[in-house]
Amino acid sequence: MSQHAHGDTPVISSTGLFTPSHIISNAELVASFNAYADRYNAANPQAEPLTYSSVEFVEKASGIKSRHVIDKRAIVDPDIMEPRYPERPDDQISLMAEIGVAACRDALERAGRNIQDVDAVLCAASNMQRAYPAMAVEIQHELGMQRGFGFDMNVACSSATFGIQTAADYIRSGNARSVLVVNPEITSGHLNWRDRDSHFIFGDVATAILVEAKDMAPAQHWEILGTRLKTQFSNNIRNNFGFLNRAHGQGPVDQSGPRNDKLFVQEGRKVFKEVVPMVGQMIIEHAESLGLSGTNLRRMWLHQANTGMNRLIAQKVLGHEASEDESPTVLDTYANTSSAGSIIAFHKHNEDLAAGDIGLICSFGAGYSAGSVFVRKVA
Ligand SMILES: CC(C)(COP(=O)(O)OP(=O)(O)OC[C@H]1O[C@@H](n2cnc3c(N)ncnc32)[C@H](O)[C@@H]1OP(=O)(O)O)[C@@H](O)C(=O)NCCC(=O)NCCS
Repeated sequence: MSQHAHGDTPVISSTGLFTPSHIISNAELVASFNAYADRYNAANPQAEPLTYSSVEFVEKASGIKSRHVIDKRAIVDPDIMEPRYPERPDDQISLMAEIGVAACRDALERAGRNIQDVDAVLCAASNMQRAYPAMAVEIQHELGMQRGFGFDMNVACSSATFGIQTAADYIRSGNARSVLVVNPEITSGHLNWRDRDSHFIFGDVATAILVEAKDMAPAQHWEILGTRLKTQFSNNIRNNFGFLNRAHGQGPVDQSGPRNDKLFVQEGRKVFKEVVPMVGQMIIEHAESLGLSGTNLRRMWLHQANTGMNRLIAQKVLGHEASEDESPTVLDTYANTSSAGSIIAFHKHNEDLAAGDIGLICSFGAGYSAGSVFVRKVA
């Protein structure tokens, strides 16, 4: 690894995206949920009956129209309603590393970067497939890195921005010059597909961000003007799955009932109300500290959880209703992809910007956690 007494200016050299080919539309999702509800109600006449989900509700409440998943067949089967991704032997690449590697390769190719020049891999995501060896170390190995280091980090929906700041700090300190931040999000694994309140929320994807020292970056890149992170404890988004579950004596995941706290659960309305002002204020304060304001912002690539939240946050920051051009949406076709959402938005909607344009990548979610990354295009 290159050790520099004086650190370098961090930039985003490129991003990468892997999108699974299976798509579940709202109509398909709701049909399978309603078929499950019919079966559940027939089999449990004493229990409180499950009510139908609706396409209209999902689209109006969230803005989500469809989502990608690794394999939809078991998910939409009303007799299963869970993903089925067969366990692989230890000498085969794990599923999470596989999609992470695909996103990394895309980012490396776009930057024209040789893997031997990369110093570190940070796997930053809201769930890890296993405890160890780290997913990042497996990805490092699969990419053919002969040196350097990797580790996993989890800050739920904010994992990618926390990863970007960590990578930028390595570059500022001189501890690394080229860092891959990778966000493989297999959210279909933590989503309770039998829960009407949340079954529509998530989708699977993997993104990667190549954060590098400016002097080695490709001619076209994004200078990182500033990063800021924030956490504030809240139980309103929670997942109690963990290694101590077996010690509680009920098995790792309790499958009974439509609601189950060993998978994703949230108080969506409270999250909406509490996170919007928290994030709006954070962005404005961070911008001010950099001598910027909403008027300097050409585009915001916001976390993709809910179009209503994004509309309110963008309006507060920009001072007017944001156009799709100023605050692009990807959750209509990707749903909430946890930490990857703002990175997909950035990946798909940055090429049209001009040199000197300033933008903001911003994530928010469980913890609560939020991260903001101001960037300026260099071309
Ligand atoms: C989750 C979310 C879309 C729900 O929308 P909402 O408008 O808050 O909806 P609520 O949960 O309050 O439910 C409103 C009504 O719709 C009903 N409803 C809930 N799910 C439904 C479904 N799938 N189909 C039909 N109706 C449904 C509820 O039962 C409730 O009915 P009631 O008014 O008769 O009690 C929204 O709160 C949200 O996106 N919040 C932010 C979440 C977030 O960002 N989380 C971060 C995750 S990383």
